[in-house]
Amino acid sequence: MTSHTSTNSQSISSEVDILIVGAGLAGLFLALKLAPRKCTVISPAPLGTAASSAWAQGGLAAALHPADSVALHAKDTVAAGGHLVEPVVASLIASHGPERVRDLLELGVPFDRTENGALALSLEAAHSHPRVARVAGDLAGAAIMEALVNAARAAEHITLVEGVKAISLLQDQHGRIGGIVAQNIEDETTFRMPAKETVLCAGGSGGLFQVTTNPRSSRGDAIAMAYECGALIADPEFVQFHPTAIDVDRDPAPLATEALRGEGAVLRDAKGRRFMYDYNEAGELAPRDEVARAIHAERIAGRGAFLDTIEAVGDEFPHHFPTVFAACEAAGIDPRRDHIPVAPAAHYHMGGVVSDIWGRTTLDGLSVCGESSSTGAHGANRLASNSLLEAVVFADRIATRLREEKLHSTSGLLFGEPPIDLSPADLSELRVLMANHAGVSRNEEGLTLLCNWIETKEDIRGGARALTVSRMIARAALERKESRGGHYRTDYPQEDIPARTYVSKNDDLKPIITRVEMDSTADAKSA
Ligand code: SIN
Repeated sequence: MTSHTSTNSQSISSEVDILIVGAGLAGLFLALKLAPRKCTVISPAPLGTAASSAWAQGGLAAALHPADSVALHAKDTVAAGGHLVEPVVASLIASHGPERVRDLLELGVPFDRTENGALALSLEAAHSHPRVARVAGDLAGAAIMEALVNAARAAEHITLVEGVKAISLLQDQHGRIGGIVAQNIEDETTFRMPAKETVLCAGGSGGLFQVTTNPRSSRGDAIAMAYECGALIADPEFVQFHPTAIDVDRDPAPLATEALRGEGAVLRDAKGRRFMYDYNEAGELAPRDEVARAIHAERIAGRGAFLDTIEAVGDEFPHHFPTVFAACEAAGIDPRRDHIPVAPAAHYHMGGVVSDIWGRTTLDGLSVCGESSSTGAHGANRLASNSLLEAVVFADRIATRLREEKLHSTSGLLFGEPPIDLSPADLSELRVLMANHAGVSRNEEGLTLLCNWIETKEDIRGGARALTVSRMIARAALERKESRGGHYRTDYPQEDIPARTYVSKNDDLKPIITRVEMDSTADAKSA
């Protein structure tokens, strides 16, 4: 069997049933699960080469150990999320985790095994039990993507279109989405790809920050495109900063997986003093946001921050954590002997396009999956290795829905607004300002300066996508006068009432920000 691959943009201008925008884990898993229903997947780069999924080191969290339980996994997910996780969604992803890991095993993902043949499960921060299924130590993302790419290329029901990206959504006068305006990466020609159902699976927003572990091209385009068409966006201010990006002046910054701390690696300052217990009694396994803030504080104080893996991993490093070892080696660091310099980096956007438990957005004809979405699974702070889990659980649910759904054509389509590009100089300045003022530590003065800078640029140049999403993040962060999860305000260090943020566009194209209080006592119901 061969896939129906097309790179000729003109050949796909007739309407397709299901168009999947993005070919990371969410997009390819969804495409495979849709069988036998036909779908088209577009990817700006050759499959498997540009999606952040392939860079995931830790793995996929699922309650797979007999001594673990779905209820415990859901409880940890809710606890990490700062009272903003929707309990129903936490239960949903936890309960479907084991089945989805079995799907991946069937697709050939070689998850690590213990000596007696059971899946080897790692411990990561804020998990009460080891439950992260991994591959060859730190190669989970790459191995999962390899299996999915091979399966997608062999699948008859999938048409793969590589070298093409979405630049706008097509929308009719009733607000229904009917496909995309696409751009051929090579010659920049644009063309329409009409579709009955469009599914955004286009990754996160880390590239808006100067230091990120995401591909630089991940700049929240899916959020901006959906917002411009009137979709509801939730919790844009909640960005997760991974505590231990390797600080070797690379863009994007290589990651030193949290699994290293799960194996016993410790954090020290430049003088060798172990500092995490000054900040949290769980030490190096405190929730990710707290570890990121501690490292940030040590660095600001001039003491530096380093990951010491010498005792915990030592000579096993090259084969237990080959990706991290290669990144260290390339920078002249030998983690068997040297401490690794680390810094927090923008890693995951908890906010995104609002999705119900079947992946539907607030716009007809538009679904969303993966990091572009806000399902309610992550609240203010995502639990480690729950991102791959959420992507596969929701991809499966969207496929279940769309396999059966009667899809409708859209009539009288309008072209979406073509995006305005930000100049390279403005983008560099924006990334520095976002890191300085909307990063690990935020305050009114910095956020006001940032909002003013963005709004001035928008007035002069119009709304480039990177500005639209940055404005949403900065404005919501300015208005959230409290600290919670990944959002830390030095001027409001306490938690206030738990409330989610919703952002939509009004008729004057200005954002409307609404706060909706959460019932933090709500019981997890089965979904
Ligand atoms: C890591 O391996 O530390 C990253 C995993 C994740 O982002 O959940």
